[in-house]
Amino acid sequence: MKPYLLATIGASLFAVSFGTQAANVPEVLQSKCASCHALTQPESTSLDRLWERKGPDLYYAGSKFNKDWLVKWLQNPVKIRPAGEFYRKHVKPGTKEDVVDESSLTAHPELITAEAEAAANALMTLTGPADLVEKGAFKNQKVTTAMGAMYFNKLRGCSACHTTAPGKGGLSGPEIATAGERLQPDFIYSYIKDPQKIDKGIWMPKLDISDADLQKLTSYIVQLSAKEDKK
Ligand code: HEC
Ligand code: HEC
Repeated sequence: MKPYLLATIGASLFAVSFGTQAANVPEVLQSKCASCHALTQPESTSLDRLWERKGPDLYYAGSKFNKDWLVKWLQNPVKIRPAGEFYRKHVKPGTKEDVVDESSLTAHPELITAEAEAAANALMTLTGPADLVEKGAFKNQKVTTAMGAMYFNKLRGCSACHTTAPGKGGLSGPEIATAGERLQPDFIYSYIKDPQKIDKGIWMPKLDISDADLQKLTSYIVQLSAKEDKK
């Protein structure tokens, strides 16, 4: 009774929610997903943990993903990170450009529809710390594809690590072509603004980007995905 009350009252207080969160992780995830994904906020913030982790953290999945995408993807888990998790383990050394060693990548577990819906519902309840994402930050202003692409590829160098189409861009970050379908816009905005606030130790640089430019980059990513859908 007592810990439950504390967790409810202090859900945003790290110290309190940390100790009690495990009890709140739905069983459907605990049994099948916890071996590869952090479902509660990890204590360690070191680079070693990123190197060792077998999958991306899911303890803030509810603040990150669009639920419809989760249901679809869990049944048909196409690659998001071209070089897997963690990318240095899956690129061949000694080559001038990164080449992915496809044979070292394993396929993601596939769920049937009912399981995918249950897992997606459960994931949406894991929202992480209350201040992780700036809610309402994204203003949904249109940006021309040419302008957005110039910011993404040239001015901010995002394409060094991200692909905006298969084979177009770097391999050390998640693909961006379908990121707008996958991710909540406020999450995209907040991640670009301060990657380490969300993913401690991650190697995406924290740049000093104005709100106006964060809006352009986020709009570009959201629109890119909408364009993919029409193909
Ligand atoms: C054997 C390890 C393993 C297991 C078990 C596993 N996953 Fe994953 N998961 C991964 C890896 C690796 C990725 C990254 C895939 C990629 O980027 O293409 C991933 C990616 C994901 C993503 C996308 C995350 C993101 O940030 O892009 C979701 C959602 C997900 N898994 C959910 C689940 C659920 C739900 C379960 C349990 C039913 C599960 N996973 C079980 C290894 C695993
Ligand atoms: C040095 C490499 C690097 C650069 C440069 C970089 N990123 Fe990233 N980015 C990453 C990595 C690594 C991740 C998270 C990896 C993970 O979740 O496994 C990431 C995550 C993201 C995400 C969240 C994607 C998701 O599916 O979780 C977005 C959106 C993003 N980056 C946008 C950008 C934008 C916009 C720029 C340019 C301003 C940029 N990135 C520059 C490496 C980079």
